[in-house]
Amino acid sequence: MASNRVRVSCLLAAGTVALAAAVASPTGPAIPGADAVPIGWNSWNAFGCDISADRIKAQADALVSTGMRDAGWRYVVVDDCWVAPERDPDGGLVADESRFPGGIKPLADYVHARGLRFGLYTGASTQTCAQAFGGYPGATGSAGHEAQDAATLASWGVDLVKDDWCGVGADADPSPARQEATFAAFRDGIRATGRPMALMINPNSGLTARVPGGADWSSFATSARLTNDVTTAWSTGDGPHGFQGVKQVVAAAEQAVAAGRPRPGYRPDADMLEVGSAELKPAEQRTQLGMLAMLGLPLMAGTDLTALSPDAQRLLTNPALVSLATDDMALPARLPDRGGLHVWVRATAAGRVFAVYNPTDGPVTVDVGELAADRATDLWTGAAMSGSLTVAAHDTELVSCA
Ligand code: GAL
Repeated sequence: MASNRVRVSCLLAAGTVALAAAVASPTGPAIPGADAVPIGWNSWNAFGCDISADRIKAQADALVSTGMRDAGWRYVVVDDCWVAPERDPDGGLVADESRFPGGIKPLADYVHARGLRFGLYTGASTQTCAQAFGGYPGATGSAGHEAQDAATLASWGVDLVKDDWCGVGADADPSPARQEATFAAFRDGIRATGRPMALMINPNSGLTARVPGGADWSSFATSARLTNDVTTAWSTGDGPHGFQGVKQVVAAAEQAVAAGRPRPGYRPDADMLEVGSAELKPAEQRTQLGMLAMLGLPLMAGTDLTALSPDAQRLLTNPALVSLATDDMALPARLPDRGGLHVWVRATAAGRVFAVYNPTDGPVTVDVGELAADRATDLWTGAAMSGSLTVAAHDTELVSCA
């Protein structure tokens, strides 16, 4: 059992665990004042193009009625397919009037009136991703319209922009240089508005010239997607350009954080959470939520909040998870693996937190005998902890020393 002893001690002084301070981007934050760790909900994974103002309002209402808003979930993000297939005569974006009557501003107002923040999608190249894949008409991408679109979105009260590069058929030049130019133009457009909208970019969909997650986008955006889209599987077995399972996105997130990608005003983005999805085991849902929170990354729920199971609701209304994700005291540090378990530690304002993640296909028991039983709690349940800890296959235990 010796190799399965984890030094999960709440008694050591914080300085005894090496925690690297985040290094600032050489050019400073891409959008000064913008929120780099948005916590909220996004429409795409649950509804795809089947969205309307009414449907989005129902999700905003559910953020309130489930208790998620009060637990810290703040953003309502409308993804692809809100836009009318044609720009207006001045070249401006307009919403599809049949599904978003009166446009986007009344919807943003509705969301704001509930104490929430509002996010909106645009395509970075000449088409949105649904347009590029033939699932939606038009070619309304922001390429060449970046400053105009940033100003339009700011005038509607948008707080977060998802700027999505979909290279397949969406742009004549799917090169990294072209991608960088379009993202930089949108960033500059946002800066010119004076409204510190968060800018979540996705440089991965359909661009094969670059390995997803490999580049440092901290001077371009408040966050950049690490992978292609997550799907409701533990592992798809696909390479980095294919759909990703939870195990794969968590691995990409661990790698990015270990490589020092988080910076002041910037975090890697590991895509939507599938907490509440019937295809994922409860342990896998805990791992996706717990590990992204532990690593301090954005949390975007991707399931239908009007139909959450009691278990999913319990996970999503635990304020400790949001506090953990948004705590900016220190970077998480990875400790040596134990018995196949990944162990992370992080100093937070509320005390030290450990994550013990089991990516293997069987349970692993570790000796955590050094835990100070009077202080260590299971962050999922609030129960006191000591002695040994068995982490089920695919599960993550979070130990808080608050
Ligand atoms: C993809 C993106 C998804 C979603 C979709 C919309 O490129 O990764 O998260 O935004 O486009 O069509």
